[in-house]
Amino acid sequence: MRVDDQSSAHRAPDRSSAPATGHATAVAHPNIALVKYWGKRDERLVVPRTDSLSMTLDVFPTTTRVHLAAAAGPDTVMLDGAPAAGQARRRVVAFLELVRERAGSARAAVVTSENTVPTGAGLASSASGFAALAVAAATAYGLDLDATALSRLARRGSGSASRSLFAGFAQWHAGPRAASDAEADLGSYAEQVPVGALDPALVIAVVNAGPKAVSSRAAMRRTVETSPLYEPWTRSSADDLVDMRAALVRGDLEAVGEIAERNALGMHATMLAARPAVRYLAPATLSVLDAVLHLRQGGVAAYATMDAGPNVKVLCRRADAERVADAVRNAAPDAAVHTAGPGPAARLLDGDGR
Ligand code: DP6
Repeated sequence: MRVDDQSSAHRAPDRSSAPATGHATAVAHPNIALVKYWGKRDERLVVPRTDSLSMTLDVFPTTTRVHLAAAAGPDTVMLDGAPAAGQARRRVVAFLELVRERAGSARAAVVTSENTVPTGAGLASSASGFAALAVAAATAYGLDLDATALSRLARRGSGSASRSLFAGFAQWHAGPRAASDAEADLGSYAEQVPVGALDPALVIAVVNAGPKAVSSRAAMRRTVETSPLYEPWTRSSADDLVDMRAALVRGDLEAVGEIAERNALGMHATMLAARPAVRYLAPATLSVLDAVLHLRQGGVAAYATMDAGPNVKVLCRRADAERVADAVRNAAPDAAVHTAGPGPAARLLDGDGR
């Protein structure tokens, strides 16, 4: 397992095997996209329509342990202390099937996953969850994958998980249009993005920690299939990606924030125009957006982004984070407010699985 090796982006998928350790524990952090992933080109392979770019957070880690049974049988999946059911369980079991197929193993697994982020609240618990599961399951089943190959694997669980393999900022490539499944899979991976002098914080306003009414998976499918604004957004998002990478290298927080905010608002516009409309933004969301505008008018660099939920993440300088958090609390008194910085790569925990 070499989760810090980023050198093999263009190698064939790594199917070489290491001895199955039989058990491993991994930790991964959520990420927040500054250029969003919204829409798939291939649903089964989880290949996106557009590239996306995110910041991995230093808060809300997911810790996942995978322990193999001696033989085949039903998998056991425990999420936050309770047996997973329905769709959540099916997604984990389908992911384990993929790992078993690659490892040539039939052994069932016991998966125990603990989130510290409110599940389903638009705060990307599926990103940290499948990134941690990819690292732990690959080790337990004896797949010797570098970080690039792990990002491809994590992608199959949840697209945004591909970016949580990496520390700091990461870009997930959609990849070129491919002639085969193998080529499509190979072309779509994440990698770390270089940044200049930047000391960013994300002030996270959790205005509603409950599960969302429409899953991001269903909402993005509906958007791709029915929204007349979707295609134009994919084109402007490609430009945003180029501008974002340049702004990050310059360490230009104002530009990073402006691009992130316009990209997120554009993504929400695509879903508002879907038929029927998908609207995640709540009254408290708009109150926080007003507060962000007010901060900017007062000379504080603060920019908002929202995912598939009503919560708002405000990008600012770390030095301004306290002031931004106060403004957010005033605007949404019922919101829980957290401050995050750039976080670490997904990794195995010592003493297990090595
Ligand atoms: C709005 O990665 O949760 O957060 O691939 O279907 O599991 P699936 O979707 P998911 O979608 C995340 C969408 C987003 C934007 C982003 O993180 O880029």
